[in-house]
Amino acid sequence: MSFTATALTGSKPEQYAQLLEQARALLHGERDRTANAANLSALVYHALPHLNWVGFYFFDGTELVVGPFQGLPACVRIPLSKGVCGAAASTRATQRVEDVNAFPGHIACDSASRSELVVPLYQGETLLGVFDLDSPIPARFSVEDQHGLEAIARAYLEALG
Ligand code: SME
Repeated sequence: MSFTATALTGSKPEQYAQLLEQARALLHGERDRTANAANLSALVYHALPHLNWVGFYFFDGTELVVGPFQGLPACVRIPLSKGVCGAAASTRATQRVEDVNAFPGHIACDSASRSELVVPLYQGETLLGVFDLDSPIPARFSVEDQHGLEAIARAYLEALG
């Protein structure tokens, strides 16, 4: 399969609609969670500006374990009681953190990170993991970014079947 990601244009919602279309094309016909997580991380990391880490953590039954990502090497294991990732997984709510240094328990994998968005990944009642994005810019993620990235996370879950 060859895949060409074209540059995103227009308003933010328009850009996210294009990115979602590209994500769906990339996921089409593939159910492997690792393969899809790897390609989605690469797609999003290269499509959106001002990101220093994009990737997945998968729940192993006890804690979150790092999966496919783009960016610097990251913390391998995160308990559900720790960090922005643990908060997203345990509350089932997307965590949009404007200033990671003000977030109690934030885990600094890359000291360049200033803001973070973590979308929990649930298949029904079952925790699969989280989709995590870091930025070196404070307050990088708006509500529009949150909605756009939640839609991409849903496409990821739908592709797993
Ligand atoms: N900052 C995250 C840890 C994962 S890294 O950002 C890749 C957290 O506090 O959960």
